[in-house]
Amino acid sequence: MQHVKTAAELRSCVHRSREQGRRIGFVPTMGYLHEGHLSLVKIAKSSADYVVVSIFVNPAQFNDKKDFEAYPIDIARDSELLRTCGADLLFIPTPEMVYGPGFQSWVTVEELSAPWEGAQRPGHFRGVSTVVSILFNLVQADCAVFGEKDFQQLRLIEQMVADLKCNIQIIRGPLVRETDGVAMSSRNVRLSPEARVAARSLSRGLFAAENGFRGGERDSAKLVRTVEAELASSKLIEPQYAAVVAESTLSPLALVTEPARLLVAATVGGVRLLDNVALAV
Ligand code: PAF
Repeated sequence: MQHVKTAAELRSCVHRSREQGRRIGFVPTMGYLHEGHLSLVKIAKSSADYVVVSIFVNPAQFNDKKDFEAYPIDIARDSELLRTCGADLLFIPTPEMVYGPGFQSWVTVEELSAPWEGAQRPGHFRGVSTVVSILFNLVQADCAVFGEKDFQQLRLIEQMVADLKCNIQIIRGPLVRETDGVAMSSRNVRLSPEARVAARSLSRGLFAAENGFRGGERDSAKLVRTVEAELASSKLIEPQYAAVVAESTLSPLALVTEPARLLVAATVGGVRLLDNVALAV
């Protein structure tokens, strides 16, 4: 697996592969990889012949400077993991390269970026959609894989690609869980042992609500209350939101009569965690 830092090196590697008739897959990441990321690389590998992974801790998507500074980085470890799961090229741009001098062109996906994570983290999605469109322009891949764990982010990217006619196929990667049900996240390493145990309440609540849904419950308020009851089980948990939303618009649903997601966000021992389950009708 090759490492590149500049746009010129990246373009020449991708150009060479394309000339050999290879389909290019792309997985953008902020590094500190876990099994969830590696599952996205494996999906890219099964849909493309040459897989580019980027590692860029994007300053523009952190509304909290401390959160940005605390973001874990370990390129040597990430590189080894990527090599073993078959990535072909690792692209590690610098902030100066991504946001050139006088940078002022931002991408905003208006409606999908407003609620939920957007309301909790002002400016976050503007940073995400901007960096993803810059990375798409640099890599020029045929397809890119985004995880369902960050479901709002995934929907936003799908909408951006449709609206801006980006010539790239977006592939959804299913959420990957630890054996105790906790959704995999780079933030999990920041949980204290007690908070790590408390973090199970998010998925426990979602699974309980999902069971209720499978049993015929369609009232969103009742499904949300099931999640909230689990979150209330630990003093370490500060719930931020739990909501049943339409898959496509992310608008709240009173009754689940169309494909929906049950979203949850909470801080657990000071670490912000997200999780969700699909409610398929
Ligand atoms: O999901 C992430 O890791 C980031 O938001 C992304 C898509 C790599 C953009 O910085």
